Amino acid sequence: MKIRKAVIPAAGLGTRFLPATKAIPKEMVPLVDKPTLQYIVEEAAASGIEDILIITGRTKRAIEDHFDKSYELETELEKSGKLDYLETLQKISNLANIHYVRQKEAKGLGHAIYCARFFAENEPFAVLLGDDVVANDKKPCLAQMIEQYQTYRTSILGVQTVSDEDTSKYGVIKGDKLADRIYKVEDMVEKPAPGTAPSNVAVLGRYIITPGIFRCLEETTPGAGGEIQLTDALRKLAAKESMYAYDFVGRRYDVGSKEGYLEATVEFALKRPDLKDEFTQYLKNIVSKL
Ligand code: G1P
Repeated sequence: MKIRKAVIPAAGLGTRFLPATKAIPKEMVPLVDKPTLQYIVEEAAASGIEDILIITGRTKRAIEDHFDKSYELETELEKSGKLDYLETLQKISNLANIHYVRQKEAKGLGHAIYCARFFAENEPFAVLLGDDVVANDKKPCLAQMIEQYQTYRTSILGVQTVSDEDTSKYGVIKGDKLADRIYKVEDMVEKPAPGTAPSNVAVLGRYIITPGIFRCLEETTPGAGGEIQLTDALRKLAAKESMYAYDFVGRRYDVGSKEGYLEATVEFALKRPDLKDEFTQYLKNIVSKL
């Protein structure tokens, strides 16, 4: 079966980026000049996803406006001959069919995914987390995962190896390496206490999940941080069906942290033909004075 649908949870409060996120959704904070969420939606679209469900909440209306058509703005841009901008805007609203559902209470990532049960309609689907932006100029991270799905035909978790100090920030898998970049998932744990992680292989914001997850989510009680954790439901699923983890190729930025956000901003600016030369010069100048 083809992976046609993706779910992007975007209901979090964004407390780590206050005060910027007091009145705007954290997913709309830009990297250079594009909201972080647009990078995620573009990755999904470039990986062949046709329908995207964004799980939103109160105060997230700017997200719907961003992916909608903007007739007034488009008419103005056309009139004033700013055709580059016009094209940029029109591309956004044509990326995919985007649907929305509101998560009424912030009960955790697992609960957010449960809100997608009617959308998934018994098909395997992708999940992309908005805090994890993955750069790969050759093949988008999700496209790599979909390729693995074509081989294994079951749930695939996107992972990379992290340092010992970082395992407590993530869902960490326990499992044997089966082939190049592939692990068989036996178990997993959400945010293990320092020194207790079963491995250094962490789930980094990309998943392909079979619909069996919804039954597992129904049986999942609050876990780490008092929230309904997707990781806890995935470990139940791994006990019922085979599950693999794929060490994806690409530079992953944790744009939910200030450090990761700044790194992504600088590196993305350095890749932009319109900014690269001047910005490189500027960075060299300030670094030489440090
Ligand atoms: C979530 C997941 C965690 C995963 C992480 C990836 O945690 O619960 O399993 O490893 O995303 O970034 P969060 O960062 O939302 O606390």
